[in-house]
Amino acid sequence: MKLFWYYYLVISFLLRNTNSEFTTKRFPKNFLFGVATSAYQIEGAWNEDGKGENIWDRYLHEKPSTASFQNGDIACDSYHKYLEDVQLLKYLGVNYYRFSLSWSRILSTGYVNKVNQAAVDYYKNLINALKENKIEPFVTLYHWDLPQPLQDIGGWPNPLLVDHFADYARLAFALFGDDVKNWMTFNEPKQTCQYGYGYGLFSPGYASDGIGSYLCAHTIIKAHAKAYHIYDKEFRSQQNGRISFVIDTPWYEPGSDSDQDKEAAERKLQFSFGWYANPIYHPDGNYPQVMRDRIAVRSKQEGFSKSRLPEFTPDEVEYIKGTYDFLGLNTCSVHLVNWTEDYPIGNPSWDADTSVITFVDPTWNVSSVIPDVVIEPSSIRKLINWVDQTYNHPEIIITENGVPDEGDLNDTARIYYLSEYMGNVLLAILEDNVNVMGYTIWSLLDNFEWLMGYQYVYFNLIGM
Ligand SMILES: *[C@@H]1O[C@H](CO)[C@@H](O)[C@H](O)[C@H]1NC(C)=O
Ligand SMILES: *[C@@H]1O[C@H](CO)[C@@H](O)[C@H](O)[C@H]1NC(C)=O
Ligand SMILES: *[C@@H]1O[C@H](CO)[C@@H](O)[C@H](O)[C@H]1NC(C)=O
Repeated sequence: MKLFWYYYLVISFLLRNTNSEFTTKRFPKNFLFGVATSAYQIEGAWNEDGKGENIWDRYLHEKPSTASFQNGDIACDSYHKYLEDVQLLKYLGVNYYRFSLSWSRILSTGYVNKVNQAAVDYYKNLINALKENKIEPFVTLYHWDLPQPLQDIGGWPNPLLVDHFADYARLAFALFGDDVKNWMTFNEPKQTCQYGYGYGLFSPGYASDGIGSYLCAHTIIKAHAKAYHIYDKEFRSQQNGRISFVIDTPWYEPGSDSDQDKEAAERKLQFSFGWYANPIYHPDGNYPQVMRDRIAVRSKQEGFSKSRLPEFTPDEVEYIKGTYDFLGLNTCSVHLVNWTEDYPIGNPSWDADTSVITFVDPTWNVSSVIPDVVIEPSSIRKLINWVDQTYNHPEIIITENGVPDEGDLNDTARIYYLSEYMGNVLLAILEDNVNVMGYTIWSLLDNFEWLMGYQYVYFNLIGM
């Protein structure tokens, strides 16, 4: 049976790509393939063996109207079944497995004073099982699951969280750093800040658009930099690993060849990706100039005494700049962008600060379960090239790419997506000479999808 599906997959791949540009091309020998998951979406065991409550436990137990009335209490039960997961990884033949640590499993209150040994054992066992099977652990410290006690003191808009995250990061390096050589501090901070503290759709559900979301980002960027410097000073010489940051964005394609639409698409990329990338990856550091300028002007027109976008001091710009060993890029979708008149002055918001129109080409395929995931394979190549040029040719790892679908075993749409997207990554490497070193499929398991739960109920989220 297994063999049948293997050949089915290979043959359908070949049939589909007979005329394709990339069937005869090969990935470089040292290129790495992996798959990813996150703690809340797979572990379950939400209150077992000393794990504390985190903001997704709290939020989904309270059943907000935006969510599916399901939760990650059990999820894929990976807390108990991690050895089966490792067997799946081995069967897939991946080079690495990207997973996240649950902060509130390791530190049940979020604070560093009480370490939960059962959690340490769990992650050590997982890491050992991976290494026994020659699979490298790629570890994310924060994939959205803030310990609830840290939300109780304000969550990410509170700058004190820089130090609490730094304590947690130092502990993780000390506990696991002999075996973990690839670290990522934060996964998709835009989702945490814009959806959690801006739109208020994701946990913790605060709608403070254009204010709380910017404060959240400010803390997370500083917390990342502090963790990077801790690794650099206290661990790197012993452990010889690498550390980075993972940002997500769709590709934003200009709606036409006009200069205005090109400018609008670039602005949208700066507000979506540059917001987090510029302070860390850009040679000049700091937030993108277009964000600083536009938010300052709009804040003034709105009657604020200073910009809603917090400022980094010159020392902070220097401290944050260059805190990466590679660039982690998550992407799965594409949108077109048109220029428009600036949105009228009213309630502050990230979308109004950006002021563009986004739309899609009606001929493009979309995911059958999340229509916001729009499929246009060459878009990943364009995005990779934009990132390469904008941030001075960093080493890039695609830390997530994939599409949700209902194909079950006859997974033709997903086979198409993955082969075409991987093919376009390959073209970026071979034809455009971009330094992409790894490609990660989201995800290993059919896992718990935040507001959507386990069944595909589509909630019309804004701004994806
Ligand atoms: C985007 O701009 C192009 C060129 O100006 C125009 O043809 C098109 O209708 C616009 N689309 C939307 C959705 O605004
Ligand atoms: C698989 O899906 C494709 C496209 O949806 C369809 O044409 C084909 O008949 C399906 N094959 C099987 C064995 O169900
Ligand atoms: C849409 O997806 C199918 C495979 O599911 C593929 O054959 C087709 O070429 C795609 N169409 C476009 C416009 O990309």
